[in-house]
Amino acid sequence: MDKDKLLIVEDDAELSTQMKWGLSKEYQIFQAEDRSRALEILKKENPPVITLDLGLPPESNGVEEGFLTLERILAYDILTKVIVITGQHEKEHALAAIGSGAYDFLAKPVHLEELRVILGRAFHLFRLEQEYRELQKQVGSDVFEKMLGTSPEMLKVFETIHKVASADAPVLILGESGTGKELAARAIHSQSVWRDGPFVAINCGAIPETLLESELFGHEKGAFTGAHIQRPGRIEAAQKGTLFLDEIGELSPYLQAKLLRFLQENRIERVGGREEIFVDTRILAATNTEIEQAITEGRFREDLFYRLGVVVVSMPPLRERENDILLLAKAFLKRFAAENTKRIASFTPKAIQAIERHNWPGNIRELENRVRRAVIMSEGTKVTPADLELNSSNAKYEGQDLKEAREVLERDMIHRALSRNKGHLTRTALELGISRPGLYDLMDKLGIERK
Ligand SMILES: Nc1ncnc2c1ncn2[C@@H]1O[C@H](COP(=O)(O)OP(=O)(O)OP(=O)(O)O)[C@@H](O)[C@H]1O
Ligand SMILES: [Mg+2]
Repeated sequence: MDKDKLLIVEDDAELSTQMKWGLSKEYQIFQAEDRSRALEILKKENPPVITLDLGLPPESNGVEEGFLTLERILAYDILTKVIVITGQHEKEHALAAIGSGAYDFLAKPVHLEELRVILGRAFHLFRLEQEYRELQKQVGSDVFEKMLGTSPEMLKVFETIHKVASADAPVLILGESGTGKELAARAIHSQSVWRDGPFVAINCGAIPETLLESELFGHEKGAFTGAHIQRPGRIEAAQKGTLFLDEIGELSPYLQAKLLRFLQENRIERVGGREEIFVDTRILAATNTEIEQAITEGRFREDLFYRLGVVVVSMPPLRERENDILLLAKAFLKRFAAENTKRIASFTPKAIQAIERHNWPGNIRELENRVRRAVIMSEGTKVTPADLELNSSNAKYEGQDLKEAREVLERDMIHRALSRNKGHLTRTALELGISRPGLYDLMDKLGIERK
């Protein structure tokens, strides 16, 4: 493999040579003694990392030339990692250099060991960013495997997904309701070496325990009353593909133990069966963020949690990825307008304001549902706050703290959704973009009676 390129910009020939000697085992070294030579080498060799002495000729005791060089380097390639080397008592210059975009600094006299550590990190970071650049080119600008997002939080998620996709380890996807956990699981599958195999999803929260056991592990004929035929389970169905265990936090202690055994041995027995079946499958699991509390309270096995969560992907809630809200809203508008053959092109400015101000407890699913409904309800060519049923005034929250205001809003929305759905809880939960147990919890918390 070729060595990484490192440019040393230093007018003190002795120091420059000393650094070159010390580092040329690890790096391919280029040397420049002033700005013009530095820029020349930069353009020709594109070194990812540069060490830059701030005191360059013609004014070796000042720092102006150094700063100018820094500026020019970053103007040429913003991802270049510049490590500024300063005189002993120039801490404030060092900090100013960081402020101008330098990656790190080091005071003279230069200790090679220290420099090596900084260089190692700088090259590492450069490579990560480089990989990410490639990824972006590959996937287009704001969508990754059907997931929209340009916020730094989402870029991090995309990067993690890309990195872990082809590892063998299980991945645990954590996130609030409606944050895109399932979409992330599908993205991991389609980026992985198992992409040509099946993607088998099973929602552990939606099926009663007795059924879930045979659903997961399958059963032999006669295993229990009603088992007229032999049936392979979902785990077997995921052979050579991906098994996605959704809402894993809902699993009963008995099934937690059984699943743990499967994870350790890669073998299962069907219910009522004796034969051990080897299953080679990639395991993904998802759960909402309450899992940690479930562990503390002893409802979820810690050993299973660590087994599943060798790698953890955390889906950020919508409120932490603000710039994505409009991006998503506009994409949904476009999609639903096309689906409903409506000539709706955009949101009114007031609607945009309302979308940005709204607190989205149901996250993306709630946003999606609301835009869908607005498109259907809208009679004009632009979606208004009224179509979205978003009241743009915040007057009723005045004088309250965030927690109180949130409760007012939650109570309000639940009441309205309940009345629209005539008290039907499943439909209400669906409309609000939360799970049914989630709705129960909220109603209990807010003291809303279930009829
Ligand atoms: N980044 C995204 N870009 C576009 N659409 C998204 C994105 N994330 C989620 N969605 C959409 O939002 C909805 C909810 O996503 P998903 O079902 O993956 O969330 P979830 O976290 O599994 O939700 P729940 O906890 O309720 O099961 C889906 O319709 C999905 O297509
Ligand atoms: Mg889900």
